[in-house]
Amino acid sequence: MKVVVSAPGVVKFFGEHAVVYGTGAIAASIDRRLYVTARLRNNGEVKIAAYDLSTHGVIVTLKPNGEIVVGTDYGKVIPAIAYVRKAIELTREYLGERAGVELEIKSDMPVGAGLGTSAAVSVATVFAYATITGHELEKREIAKLGHRTELTVQGAASPMDTAVATYGGLLYIKPTSSSPIIEPVRKGAELPTVIGYVKRVATTKELVAWVRKLRDKYTKLIDQIIWAIGELVERARVAIEKGELGTVGELMNINHGLLEALGVSDKRLNDMVYAARMAGAIGAKLSGAGGGGCMLALAPNKLKEVAAAIAIANGTPIITELGVEGVRVEKVEK
Ligand code: PMV
Repeated sequence: MKVVVSAPGVVKFFGEHAVVYGTGAIAASIDRRLYVTARLRNNGEVKIAAYDLSTHGVIVTLKPNGEIVVGTDYGKVIPAIAYVRKAIELTREYLGERAGVELEIKSDMPVGAGLGTSAAVSVATVFAYATITGHELEKREIAKLGHRTELTVQGAASPMDTAVATYGGLLYIKPTSSSPIIEPVRKGAELPTVIGYVKRVATTKELVAWVRKLRDKYTKLIDQIIWAIGELVERARVAIEKGELGTVGELMNINHGLLEALGVSDKRLNDMVYAARMAGAIGAKLSGAGGGGCMLALAPNKLKEVAAAIAIANGTPIITELGVEGVRVEKVEK
């Protein structure tokens, strides 16, 4: 028996970093997906074949006694598959299930570029493992297990990416001390966007830690920036629902400035952001943790021009549809 599950990538529209401190955020699924194919194994082993990591393709076997056998020797592989390993461990625990499984992971988006691939792989692995072992999980349970996976691997993670990878759509997410608030945001007008990305030089974990350190040193100052981001997210939500794209764009620009103040942008991201604005984008900001990775531009009637400007600024542009379906079973073969 074989099961194929897919989950979409995620762009952060508003509120990244501040969301770690409990403010709201707005993020959307994109029409690039990550695929997990699961087959049962009868010896209790977990075998993971990952084909699209930034390192070369590699095959890793996790023995029931905890031993790890790596088919190809690349040091970066273990952290990269940490999400898959943890997602399986938590799902097994949750379901009280020990079946061995073989997983094959493919991505039609760049991995580790800030498009939420760690959330997509966590959520898709949870769902694929549950489905191949004959369990039904609700979306709420998938999102929760996916979030716990990211939390354990990264140390700190908001529920934003795993919620969007699970439910899809354009979502407002606000962590609370119990379950996060997750609500769809209705678009009053289309949001034609272009993503630009460059190679990332720091991990999400490092950047979240960087902001924490800055906040420890300048608590009052940084708390006001976090508050201002939270405030603009609430305004952005209203502007998106009313279809006021000019305001949405302005708020993206303000959000970029505040992320820059937190020290998570870099020259390559700023170059793409300015190039996009000069080519006619009505708003542009870094998207995600920063340190390279992604930016997002709102560019009604200027998608091609903005994509070209991002390419000239040494980024890779992706014109994408926002708000596609979340995690889903693509195929079941008996
Ligand atoms: O690294 P990314 O693109 O998945 O974005 C992380 C977003 C943060 O707000 C910085 C962290 C989080 O867990 O929400």
